[in-house]
This record gives sequence, structure tokens and C-alpha cells, in this order.
Amino acid sequence: LENGLARKPPMGWMSWAAFYCETDCDQHPRSCISELLYGDMADRLASEGYREAGYVGVHVDDCWMERQRDRSGALVPDRTRFPSGLKSLADYIHDKGLKFGLYEDYGTKTCEGYPGSYGHLKIDAQSFANWTVDYLKLDGCNIDVNLMEKGFPEMQVELNATGRQIVYSCVWPLYLLPKHSEKIDYKYIGDHCNLWRNFDDVKSSWDSITSIIDYYDRNQEKHIPTHGPGRWHDPDMLVIGNENIDVNMATAQMTIWSIWSAPLMISTDLRTIKPEFKKILLNKDVIAVDQDKMGIMGRMIANSSNVFIYLKPISPTADLRSSFAFALLNRNTTHPFSAEFDLESVGLEDAGGYKVTNLWSGEEHGRLLPSDTINMTIPASGAVMFRAVLVDLKPKHHKIDRFL
Ligand code: GLA
Repeated sequence: LENGLARKPPMGWMSWAAFYCETDCDQHPRSCISELLYGDMADRLASEGYREAGYVGVHVDDCWMERQRDRSGALVPDRTRFPSGLKSLADYIHDKGLKFGLYEDYGTKTCEGYPGSYGHLKIDAQSFANWTVDYLKLDGCNIDVNLMEKGFPEMQVELNATGRQIVYSCVWPLYLLPKHSEKIDYKYIGDHCNLWRNFDDVKSSWDSITSIIDYYDRNQEKHIPTHGPGRWHDPDMLVIGNENIDVNMATAQMTIWSIWSAPLMISTDLRTIKPEFKKILLNKDVIAVDQDKMGIMGRMIANSSNVFIYLKPISPTADLRSSFAFALLNRNTTHPFSAEFDLESVGLEDAGGYKVTNLWSGEEHGRLLPSDTINMTIPASGAVMFRAVLVDLKPKHHKIDRFL
């Protein structure tokens, strides 16, 4: 969506994959969906280096509402869990230099059964603007999928009419799977949404991460040309820091999501995250690959049984030549994979060579030519990731002779 927003993949913290719809604050005072939870996460983002790394959004997901609209037809935040109201929560978040994201659903009800926006798009868009929402995630539960083609763009018109700049995230093509998948038109979706979910909800498991990777690999020829500044495919949240995800799996998820220029939405408890996972989320070089200004989605260029190779053009570029990030993913869950690769075999062919850095270990390989090799070991259920910056940045065909 060309509204000037989300020129880079959005980054932040979102509650769903870690806290779901926990509404019992008596039993679970620290993990129920409440203003305290989002306030705590805003504190952590602002005080522990996440904000500086780019994670600026605090995203409230489903289950924030009262079961009924008020007499004027407006949505009401749950009175016991959000006693200060959403404007006050937004102020708290904004005062920390962060952005406020909110969830709703285009249908008659949200996925968890709270009031949906169907028939109320205008009044809801106005509430979001009044609450100073910066980002809306609009889900697609409880509605005829044939209405989406008209409905999701309608909400964009209403958001725009409020005059507030609101990033628009659509949980839309996901609901067209599998029966209506031939109707998915990413060009059209990208004309109306800044980002969109197109596959199953991520869970904190290696199976879930790899099922998303499989779907994206299978559909990459559709995804790559429709991905870029202002319009992003969203493979869903990072589950790094959660139970069942070890350091290697976490490294793999962060690697592949960054190769894709995917939105980076942390979904874990930032009050208790272990330092080794925090370090993965805060790797500045890997984040820089994700946030590269060209916003190109990397491609899976080769795979042999368990090892998958990915290549992504990044800046700096010269002529039609570019620098690259490349990654190798080991899908074997029990055995590490060791090999020696020349640069050519991962698609790096510039005769001037590349300055190559291992982005997870920090090791600098110095200048390597296409025929030079790198030794690497990829842990089981893990990934390695490199940056290869063009050494010769001069244009190849300079036209200087005509001035001589
Ligand atoms: C859907 C979305 C999730 C989450 C839940 C909330 O499943 O895909 O990301 O927002 O709804 O109910």
C-alpha cells in the first residue's frame, strides 16, 4: 500500500504467540491480556536495547475488548483489564518512543469471539484514530471469504479518512487457503494493505517454523515480485525465547525471516527471556539485512536433502551488480552438516570478489573471489548466515572515454 508507511518491514513486539487469549488476571496477573502486560513490554523494549535495534511497535492482539459495544456502537476495551483505557496505554507507549499497534477482525466476531468490525468499519476506524493507534492488524475470522476482496480495501479507505497515519496489516490471503487459493492476487492485496498474513499461525515449535518455510519456498515465485517497501508478506511472529525453541532453531528463524525482509515481531516474555535468545534478536548485522532499503525477498536457490541455500541481494549495489546476504539452513534435526563451499556455488559471481562476514559468529573472511571457498558447519535444525559486500563498487562500463 503506497501510503508512505512501512517502507521497511515493521518491527516490534506482539502478544499472541506467547500470551494468546489469557484473560484470567486473578490466576495469571503477569501474563493476562491487560494494560500491565503491554506496559511491561513497552518498558523492556525501551530500556533493554530493543527500541534502538528497531523493535518499536507494541502490538495488542485479540481479547482486549468488552463483549459488547457501547450505546453509540463503539468498541470498548475490557474495563477490568484495561481500566485506564487505550488512549492512556497509547500515551504510555508513545512517551517511550514506541508505536501502538491494535488488533481487530473484519468479520462479525474476532477469532476469539469478541465484537468484529463488520458493519462498523467507520466508527471503528475513528476509535482507532482517537486512541492514536499507529498500526492495525485486521483479522479475517467469522466472515464469508468472498466479502474480503471488497471489505479489506474498505477498511483502508476508512483508516485513511481519519487523517491518522495507520500501518494496515491484513490477515486476509491466509483465509483463502486452501479452497480459494486461485483467488489470491498479491498485487491487489498489496495495493490495499502494507502487509498481510498468508499462512498458518506460527507456534513455538520447529515443525511450525519449517512448515512456514516450506510454504514460502513453494510459493516464492509468487511472493518475490509482490514483496517490497510498503507491501510485505508476513510469515508471522518470531517465537524466539519460547519453550521448545533452542538456540539453533532461534538462529534459523531469525536468519530466514531476515533473508525474506519479513516483519520482525517478537512474541515472547521480555521480562524473563534468556540472554542467549536476546542476543539473537538483537544481532544488528542480521537486522540490517532484514531492514535493507531495497526490501527484496531472498530466494531459495538450491536444496539437497536437508540443506537449503538462500540468496538475497542487499545494498550497496553498482550497475546491475549487488552485494548479497546468503544463508544455509540445515533441516536435519539430529545431525550437523559440514561442507566446504566456493562462493560461485551460492550464486556469488562478481569477478571483483566480495568482503565476506559470518553474521552469527562475527568472523571476517576478508576479500574472497568467486572461486574461493569457506568451510562451514551448520548445526542440526540451525542455520548459518553471511554478508558478502561487493569489493569493486565502481560501475563496470564507465563512459569516461567520451570526455577524454
Ligand atoms: C488469528 C491470527 C493470529 C491471532 C489470532 C487471534 O488466528 O492469525 O495471529 O491474531 O487470530 O485470535
